[in-house]
Amino acid sequence: MSNISILELDHNNATDAEYEAFATLSSQVRLEESPDASPITVKDAKAELQNFPESLFIKSWVGWIDDTPRFASNGVVWFDHDDENTHAINFLVRTIPAYRRQGLGRKMLQVLVNSARENGRTLMIASTNARETAGEEFLKRIGAERGIEKRGSELSLADIDTSLIERWQSGFDDSEFALGFWDGTYPDEHIEAVAELTDMTNNTAPRDNLSLNDFHKSPARLREEEGDMLRTGTQRWTAYIVNRETGRFAGFTQVLWNPNAPDMVVQDGTGVFPQFRGKGLGRWLKAAMVDRIVRERPEAKSVSSSNAYSNAAMLRINDELGFKPNNSMCTWQVETEKAAAYLAESEQQDTPGLLTE
Ligand SMILES: CC(C)(COP(=O)(O)OP(=O)(O)OC[C@H]1O[C@@H](n2cnc3c(N)ncnc32)[C@H](O)[C@@H]1OP(=O)(O)O)[C@@H](O)C(=O)NCCC(=O)NCCS
Repeated sequence: MSNISILELDHNNATDAEYEAFATLSSQVRLEESPDASPITVKDAKAELQNFPESLFIKSWVGWIDDTPRFASNGVVWFDHDDENTHAINFLVRTIPAYRRQGLGRKMLQVLVNSARENGRTLMIASTNARETAGEEFLKRIGAERGIEKRGSELSLADIDTSLIERWQSGFDDSEFALGFWDGTYPDEHIEAVAELTDMTNNTAPRDNLSLNDFHKSPARLREEEGDMLRTGTQRWTAYIVNRETGRFAGFTQVLWNPNAPDMVVQDGTGVFPQFRGKGLGRWLKAAMVDRIVRERPEAKSVSSSNAYSNAAMLRINDELGFKPNNSMCTWQVETEKAAAYLAESEQQDTPGLLTE
């Protein structure tokens, strides 16, 4: 195997050749998961790397194939700069298919474990999906355990049941609740309420075995993420339900899409405050959003969603709407020192000819 040098990637000031090599690596790995996906353009890869929120600690390394303009592997660690879940760090390791099973993933993991230790993070968190089994084998091998499993599903907009969409939007006492939309940025007068809605969804959705605590997104953080999202061209609609008498928001849902892939809409964030559950508001939100997409975005072909298998309420609504399972995702966790112990054990098997810096 060629020599591979592991170097940190400067997200903001990489060379054009580095952005291009990064886009190629990302495309190669994504192809396995989504064989129909179009290649990631250099422009999109650069926009992603240059638009991480300021409040995010994120570092990337690449395994540069010596004497070529190509990367064989990539490793990333990230966490929010806040006071919550300060024990945890997210990570990702990727090796391009032609270079797998030669110890490159392990080499990259060593760099990421070093970073976790430097930052005092004792728990490392990573995600895989069922379309790419190597990731799961790798994580099991390094001692990771399953934290939460999610179902990916897709709603084909050509197949929606229009009478159900109508039914779910009618029959509410209009004097109690009103449904509305925010397109693009959240309105200033409601940003605090959006932060509460976001916290509610994030912290009342199941976390299963993940060793993570509740976390909070401030209005400033939401604005930062929103700015980054808009800079990459992604657009968003938010549907909300508000209690007319109190002005309190009862729930919300969001969809996102990028003009580069206008046929694909992603839905996330759906949540109804516990005191408003059981009244059909979740169904109303989901139906109103689908209704609007069909009417106003004819280029959209499908809506995709991911939900914990343990989230019975959300799965039921999605199943009734016609979402069909198309993938499974798992979030894994491993203590940093457990991953380090795996690396120490594996040191003997080091690949000859591999150079790292
Ligand atoms: C997961 C991935 C990074 C592994 O990269 P790699 O360079 O092949 O990994 P290594 O050769 O260093 O393997 C490390 C260990 O995992 C094991 N392993 C890796 N892939 C495996 C597979 N498909 N089946 C069984 N074991 C596997 C190796 O045998 C090795 O164990 P050892 O220490 O006993 O020798 C690569 O398959 C990949 O990029 N997958 C897509 C991205 C992904 O899912 N990442 C995981 C989330 S972090």
